[in-house]
Amino acid sequence: MRIFIDTANIEEIEEIHSMGFLSGVTTNPTLLAREKKEYKTVVRDICSLVKGPVSVEVLSLEHDHMVAEGKELARIDPNIVIKVPLMEEGLKTIRTLADLNIKTNATLIFSANQALLAARAGATYVSPFIGRLDDIGNSGLTVLAEIIEIIDLHGLETEVIAASIRHPIHVLESARMGSHIATIPYSIIKQMIRHPLTDAGVEKFLQDWKQVF
Ligand code: E4P
Repeated sequence: MRIFIDTANIEEIEEIHSMGFLSGVTTNPTLLAREKKEYKTVVRDICSLVKGPVSVEVLSLEHDHMVAEGKELARIDPNIVIKVPLMEEGLKTIRTLADLNIKTNATLIFSANQALLAARAGATYVSPFIGRLDDIGNSGLTVLAEIIEIIDLHGLETEVIAASIRHPIHVLESARMGSHIATIPYSIIKQMIRHPLTDAGVEKFLQDWKQVF
């Protein structure tokens, strides 16, 4: 499973990128708005740092406008992936952009059927939001498992991005069930790195060393 970071904050991306395991970035309108900077500049900065897929979402809700917006965003960098919400106009947009060889990430996916339709419309990635499903009392991981099963069973080329990750167990279970990618917030990546026994072990090794040398 490849690791993406789910943020538009360049400092967070720089820090995590420097550790060598980062394969891509996902943003969304909320995350870009949080930066309070010109969004295309932020996207350009991210693309110049991370040489992997960078998802940026369209804001229009109608096919022609979504396509125009997608084409404009795709011109920023060859690694841009257009995030398109899973709705009727979104599916049309995914097909049009796929026919133009523009990569897409079908976002706001909450069921396996939505993922199947996005894949058949030509989506490069599908992003089930597992945390938001948990938030309303459904099982996000169950939906993720169904999507992975269907993609594998039917030999679809679309890759699955486990999104809306809330804690390290979401990452662990996504990896165990064979998700291609997980897009993870900065704070959760930090939680994944730290372990109290590692910290205690490092401290003890240093203490023992200093007592003799
Ligand atoms: C994914 O691409 C989305 O940006 C993100 O995972 C949404 O997560 P949230 O439910 O924490 O907002």
